[in-house]
Amino acid sequence: MRSQLLRVSAALAARTRVTARDFRSVVAETSIDDVIYMDPPYQGTSFTRDHRYLGGLPYREFVEVLHTMNSAGKSYIVSYDGKTGEKTHGEPLPSELRLRHLSIHAGRSSQSTLLGRDCDTVESLYLSPALVERLNAQTAQTAASEPDQQELAIA
Ligand SMILES: C[S@@+](CC[C@H](N)C(=O)[O-])C[C@H]1O[C@@H](n2cnc3c(N)ncnc32)[C@H](O)[C@@H]1O
Repeated sequence: MRSQLLRVSAALAARTRVTARDFRSVVAETSIDDVIYMDPPYQGTSFTRDHRYLGGLPYREFVEVLHTMNSAGKSYIVSYDGKTGEKTHGEPLPSELRLRHLSIHAGRSSQSTLLGRDCDTVESLYLSPALVERLNAQTAQTAASEPDQQELAIA
């Protein structure tokens, strides 16, 4: 763990700027060469009786920003809600955004454990169409230049 933290620290040092402002103003400064990772407040933890964050992010507003980012060809990744045990949190992001939806098994839910339950968490991770296109192009390029690697991937 220590060595992982030190490696992440070395990778981020001298090329990281920390700001506290609305994410829309940060997104506006990005280019299509960037990859933007967003971890917004989940619906399951916003606008509920015991919400976790001071301010939530309304679903409709967030979806609107994602539409704008798609139109601008931005590459982004969003983690947004998911499932704990049999309970699904929040509404999935709409299909018209054409996002690649991945379900990530994140292990035992600490929240459930604290409540005396034993459930696993499955997080939703969404990739933007522009990012999927970039990844596909990169994979095709790698496969063409390193056929052995492609065989290995297929095996
Ligand atoms: C799920 S947490 C992110 C946690 C973070 N990735 C971490 O690992 O510590 C969501 C964060 O988004 C912030 N947030 C809420 N609305 C925001 C907005 N409009 N612009 C920027 N950040 C916002 C919340 O205050 C909260 O800190």
